[in-house]
Amino acid sequence: MSSRQGTVELIKVQRAHLEVFFLNQQDTEANDLAKVFPRDRDDFEAHWVRIMDDPETIARSIVYEGMVVGNINAYWVESQMNVGYWIDKAHWGKGIATRALRGLLEIVETRPIIARVAMGNAGSIRVLESNGFVKIAEEDSPGTDRYAPCREGVFRLD
Ligand SMILES: CC(C)(COP(=O)(O)OP(=O)(O)OC[C@H]1O[C@@H](n2cnc3c(N)ncnc32)[C@H](O)[C@@H]1OP(=O)(O)O)[C@@H](O)C(=O)NCCC(=O)NCCS
Repeated sequence: MSSRQGTVELIKVQRAHLEVFFLNQQDTEANDLAKVFPRDRDDFEAHWVRIMDDPETIARSIVYEGMVVGNINAYWVESQMNVGYWIDKAHWGKGIATRALRGLLEIVETRPIIARVAMGNAGSIRVLESNGFVKIAEEDSPGTDRYAPCREGVFRLD
């Protein structure tokens, strides 16, 4: 299957990878899907310093065929473990997010694990369901400085 060809590995995030993540999070189409507003350079840097300094956050760079193409993180929000991921648009549709999440779930043993996703983000919902997540709620998410208002699904893996 051509869409599943190519190796996907998870490695620890290094500073040199952050430029890829910064560019990924500036993409308009990606932001429309995820219903987020991009961080400016300073906010982005501060955000990643927090992530890399937090021993309870498990952050990995996603390496496709030897190239860093995105990131996937597991992090605590109010005593619940959450997961989030982002792939360079040039590499969408190759099964990378699906395989990256499968890999992260082998590293992160905490269950349940939660993902919140805009209901219009069909690709992300598919990634979650392929990895066994089940929708447990759907709610109207109000807009913030960081998030656009949307209908949001809450998905859980037990
Ligand atoms: C959502 C996202 C992570 C998907 O990454 P990806 O590597 O392209 O995902 P995959 O290739 O593993 O695709 C997963 C499935 O979704 C399907 N899919 C992908 N994009 C889709 C879309 N826009 N509409 C419908 N289905 C889609 C794929 O065909 C695949 O289906 P399959 O498992 O039946 O073959 C990627 O689009 C992205 O980074 N978006 C911006 C950030 C984001 O939305 N993050 C998630 C926030 S919750």
